Amino acid sequence: MQSSRFTLCYRRGSPLRNHARLALLVGTMVLLVCSGCDVQRRKSDAELGLNPQQAAGRRLYDQYCDRCHEPYLARAKKGRSLHGVFKKQFLSQSGMPANDQRVGEMILTGRNMMPAFGQVMSQQQVQDLLAYLHTL
Ligand code: HEC
Repeated sequence: MQSSRFTLCYRRGSPLRNHARLALLVGTMVLLVCSGCDVQRRKSDAELGLNPQQAAGRRLYDQYCDRCHEPYLARAKKGRSLHGVFKKQFLSQSGMPANDQRVGEMILTGRNMMPAFGQVMSQQQVQDLLAYLHTL
């Protein structure tokens, strides 16, 4: 009884409604395909070869830095990509030496639009984060 009533309702659906349903389906599929272009599968800590300290730094990065800095892709978010941040002698944006001391200071005190994390991160956490940044 219940199912035959459903069939009746479904059959009575106006062509306009069916079109809307089709449009929704196509829209969803397009969205799924497009998001696939951009989203990379997240690698595990083991796949990245991170030691425990670097893995802890990665957690901090996810929490505090990822929304503004891409770790593995070259594209910029609110800040530059940090891919290869320690691979060059100088930081590309600020021109400061790319070493633990300078980058650590920047994390603690911030710079222009980059917020300071001195209030939220301990010295140990900054060390862990730096260890992870060296792997990028
Ligand atoms: C709200 C966005 C935002 C967040 C969150 C953020 N940053 Fe930044 N970051 C920026 C911006 C903007 C700059 C450029 C600052 C400037 O004008 O020199 C920057 C600059 C930097 C630089 C220097 C880049 C260069 O080439 O000079 C480093 C290193 C850096 N950020 C690391 C981090 C780390 C590590 C974290 C997480 C603890 C973090 N940032 C969180 C926005 C952000």
